[in-house]
Amino acid sequence: MEGKQRDNWSSRIGFIFAAAGSAVGLGNIWRFPYLAAENGGSAFIFIYLLFVLGIGLNVMIAEFAIGRRTQLAAVGAYKKLDKRFTFAGVIGVLSAFLIMGFYPVVGGWSVAYIVKSFTGLLSDQALIADAFGGFITSSYEPLLWMLLYMAINIYIVAKGVTSGIEKAGKILMPTLLVLFIFVAIRSVTLDGAFEGLKFLFKPDFSKVTGETFLAALGQQFFSLSLGMGCMITYGSYISKKEALPKNALIITLIDTSVAILASIAIIPALFAFGLEVNQGPGLVFIVVPQIFAGMGALGPIISAIFFIALAIAALTSSISLLEVVVAYLIDERKMKRKNAVAVTGLVMTVMSVLSSLSLGAFPSLKLFGVAVFDFFDIITDKIFLAIGGLLIALFVGWFMKKEDMKDELTNGGTLEFGLFNVWYTLIKYVVPVAIALVAIFGIIAIEQTSLMIFGLLVILVLAIFSKKL
Ligand code: PHE
Repeated sequence: MEGKQRDNWSSRIGFIFAAAGSAVGLGNIWRFPYLAAENGGSAFIFIYLLFVLGIGLNVMIAEFAIGRRTQLAAVGAYKKLDKRFTFAGVIGVLSAFLIMGFYPVVGGWSVAYIVKSFTGLLSDQALIADAFGGFITSSYEPLLWMLLYMAINIYIVAKGVTSGIEKAGKILMPTLLVLFIFVAIRSVTLDGAFEGLKFLFKPDFSKVTGETFLAALGQQFFSLSLGMGCMITYGSYISKKEALPKNALIITLIDTSVAILASIAIIPALFAFGLEVNQGPGLVFIVVPQIFAGMGALGPIISAIFFIALAIAALTSSISLLEVVVAYLIDERKMKRKNAVAVTGLVMTVMSVLSSLSLGAFPSLKLFGVAVFDFFDIITDKIFLAIGGLLIALFVGWFMKKEDMKDELTNGGTLEFGLFNVWYTLIKYVVPVAIALVAIFGIIAIEQTSLMIFGLLVILVLAIFSKKL
């Protein structure tokens, strides 16, 4: 593509919607609230926000800068700038691939709950939690919904009809936001919700361990779509006139607000209904229908809209994940789009089938002592994304010229970026040290030590064979 002008987003808003579409997904609405609930609420949120500001936002600026500088997607960008770092791009592709080993399972649940909103789920509030348990442990039902969800992804990426999904996102994302505000108000005004608000906002650091830090670190990379080259690719399409730091800030703010809003919508209600804090991955599917169940005839309709919006938020994220892998196969392995999508889609479907079964019908489907579903989840966000983030920070801080970065972030000196030196110091020293420390203490604290070591070994092997990738 040398010498040829790369396509740009048609407008700033178009870019922000695309990047926010990738960022805002199950990570914010499904995962953040249950992680916060499991990890002591306020303390987790506090650490999360600290990491977003100190790490995530700065890594996003770095990813945008690399993408726009090279006008290439992740693997190509690293390859062009420094071949020794090609493996960092490949780890990103691998992360996207493995995330798609569990993401479609939850995507499928979201689609299922659109229909379930109308088929009696809401008729008895007391049975909603059991209904979720029954649903995910049934042998074939979650598989069918996952297959449907996966098929939609494959269709969209094969056809390249992302513009349609972006348009849907433009309507449904704001809808989701309005619904959340509505649900949040409802949730905090329920009897007994105050305890939940205290849990969310009154810091209690007594429950914090090395694992809490690791969970927060992984979650912010996952939620902001960082550490895997996705934002490098998006950066390559940003117009040369745009201010990268400002765009990164906007996307970070949108993503973080949705996560916080989701917790305010869900956790106070969790307390009001007197449920256990440790609901795990079922949280949003148990609490949200309960909130709507008390709303009479309108309940099913609002509940369905909620799950439609959730499914679309998930879809705009998972197509960006699938696209990362497909783009790699097309660009670097010279495959045809149709073939690349077919092969990738098939393998992801098999992984997701195993993941789904490991939660219910076949609990013996385990890898490194955890359910296959958790294996894909832990190895990606607690290991690969964290290392991916570490590598981009090291790369930008230590292997790129400072002047080049300044040039890119100030659009050749035509824009002010007053905080450049702060950003540079953070990315060069603070981010790598922080990630390394969290990783070390996390590995010590976490139960799944063998899994962590396996993940690190995979990265080591990729690094050694980097030149062949
Ligand atoms: N950020 C998405 C979410 O929160 C997941 C994702 C991760 C998408 C990495 C793309 C890349 O659901």
